[in-house]
Amino acid sequence: MALELRPLHPLFVAEAAGVDLGRPLAPETVRAIDAAMDRFGVLVFRDQPLDQDQQIAFARCFGTLDIGLRRATKGGHRFKYDELIDISNVAVDGDIAARDSRRVASMVANQLWHSDSSFQCPAAKYSMLSAVALPSWGGETEYADLRAAYDALPARLKAELEELEAEHYALHSRMMLGTTDWSEEEKNVLPPVRWPILRTHPGSKRKLLFVGIHAREIIGWTLPEGRMMLADLLEHATQRQFVHRHEWRVGDLVMWDNRATLHRGRRYDLGERRELRRTTTMAVETAEATA
Ligand code: OGA
Ligand code: MN
Repeated sequence: MALELRPLHPLFVAEAAGVDLGRPLAPETVRAIDAAMDRFGVLVFRDQPLDQDQQIAFARCFGTLDIGLRRATKGGHRFKYDELIDISNVAVDGDIAARDSRRVASMVANQLWHSDSSFQCPAAKYSMLSAVALPSWGGETEYADLRAAYDALPARLKAELEELEAEHYALHSRMMLGTTDWSEEEKNVLPPVRWPILRTHPGSKRKLLFVGIHAREIIGWTLPEGRMMLADLLEHATQRQFVHRHEWRVGDLVMWDNRATLHRGRRYDLGERRELRRTTTMAVETAEATA
């Protein structure tokens, strides 16, 4: 069957149907999904519960997998694969994680607008998040369209930002939220990286405004001016007209392009179980372009 697309927002995001993600994908289906991702930035697949093997096999169709922050944080995990990222408030023993645990702190940090792994090079290309268990309220995920955000910038600001780079640091969001228990070793595992603030999306050739909570300063600017500008740009990029809210159902798989969108989780009762599993591919081509 062919990939069927139904737009869910005036600017980006489509619901995708007609493909069984749990079975091996034909090369033309992978190409169709890539093309849809280039156009829409976010694809929502409904009723596609995947087990761990299926999710890994699906993700590998789109490139080399990333393990994200796991590189910086020690500790075991619950999955068969290192490349499955546990987006849940559940501890390794299967119980709901303690309120003051790092796991919960990290889930709260996901509620700040970000692009996955923008703190490393290569950063993330696609993230694929599969819903396993959901709380009774909240816990939606919102997406913001960075290409539309660029288009809507005033010409003067576009010109001012043209040559600028921002520094992105893995623990900035965690530190902003007040966690301080990081060892020197952990702080240094993922040294900051720089990305241009204005970038061109490889697949669509559209320009975009690359901001998010991992960006902590503008190179060559004072900290206050840089942080203020980054905060303003993030506010601009996440105005309501650029945002789509996904209301999860168990068995949903949402796939997004971290090079073209931001996302954030929304609040829920941390005493209720919320379990999603993520796979993420690496944006190798942008790493090559900036090397
Ligand atoms: C992620 C993420 C937000 C959420 O999986 O990368 O940021 O709603 N998730 O869980
Ligand atoms: Mn994320």
